[in-house]
Amino acid sequence: MTNILPFSRNVQECEIGVETKILAPTTENIALAGQLLRDGRLVALHTETVYGLAANAFDTAAVSEIFAVKGRPQDNPLIVHIADVDDVHRLTRWFPETARKLAGAFWPGPLTMVLPKNKAVPYAVTCGLDTVALRMPGSPVMLAAIRAAGTPLAAPSANRSGRPSPTRAAHVMDDLGGKIPLIIDGGSCEIGVESTVISIIASRTDGAVPAKIKILRPGAVTADEIAAATGLSVGSDIEIDPAVLSPLPEDAAPPSPGMKHRHYAPRAEVILVEGDFDGFADVVSRVVGDAGPYKLWAMCFAGEGDKLSVPYIEYGGENDHLGQCGAIFDALRRLDAMGAERVYVRAPSRDGIGLAAYNRLLRAAGFRVVNLHKET
Ligand code: TXA
Ligand code: MG
Repeated sequence: MTNILPFSRNVQECEIGVETKILAPTTENIALAGQLLRDGRLVALHTETVYGLAANAFDTAAVSEIFAVKGRPQDNPLIVHIADVDDVHRLTRWFPETARKLAGAFWPGPLTMVLPKNKAVPYAVTCGLDTVALRMPGSPVMLAAIRAAGTPLAAPSANRSGRPSPTRAAHVMDDLGGKIPLIIDGGSCEIGVESTVISIIASRTDGAVPAKIKILRPGAVTADEIAAATGLSVGSDIEIDPAVLSPLPEDAAPPSPGMKHRHYAPRAEVILVEGDFDGFADVVSRVVGDAGPYKLWAMCFAGEGDKLSVPYIEYGGENDHLGQCGAIFDALRRLDAMGAERVYVRAPSRDGIGLAAYNRLLRAAGFRVVNLHKET
């Protein structure tokens, strides 16, 4: 199929077998993306965090197709992306002062707010929840596509479920090629990890009492920045959900359903090592002797790899948390391509944006951590 027009809109007909085009974000191609989205098709779009797999948020059939194409669990709700703050009123029945301040400070940008949904939002988007996650993305590509579609777009990360999130158009092609008609290539994603997701909890729905905030997923917008924008305090009013740093008990109902699923995982077994570089090098050289048939790799900070006795990928400077975030998912995918079977990873500090990098690696590792600080 060389021409992706005209479109058929038959949900029974799975998208498998379509030709996937990768196009630059020209005005013409953005208009094409808008037309596909209006017609109920899926389009992968660049955002400043990771690539998103977008559908018209009000089109239940198109939204259902996102779950099918990604192999996404049916209980993991989607983020709805808007291009204008006023669009929140098309989607939520409550937008308190705290949310308004946060939108003013961080939108467009990598902050997602979970708020009570209104009737217009299909339960297919929220997986039956009465809340909806909203974000105004910073990427001009995504903003232009929302405007071209003329509708808010539901969009999870554009990877196959469980795989590392895509930070380049080629990653999307690897995971979803042949299943969607179009990827708009805006280059590599500047931030490289998904948005900060917060829920805003009101003591009173009229908003008279200041809200409390829970960080459900750490991202480039940090707890300290949220505090500065709202006047709330970290610890008492702004809490980091325990699921950010520890596995949920089997039967627990997670505040953010995405947190209970295996995530960001390459095929290799990943082990996160907390401690200094010398300790890390020691762990690696100890296991290299008895690694047996494993193809052992290290993921370390810039400038460290040459001092190790195993092949390595460097993922940003030790104190460059944004650089680490930008490199993590690409590094995990490259390790797969190299046939790595076991990967020891230098753990970043959890300060500032480091918490987002740490959280993604912890999940890629399935919570397997060697903590050298605790060893005597
Ligand atoms: O940066 C991002 O947020 C990217 C780009 C494409 O915008 N999107 C993204 O979507 O990461 P996804 O689906 O991979 O992650 C959405 C997260 C999941 O952990 C999900 O459980 C949570 O947001 N979420 C969505 N709706 C929610 C809700 N109503 N309540 C609690 N958590 C929600
Ligand atoms: Mg995702």
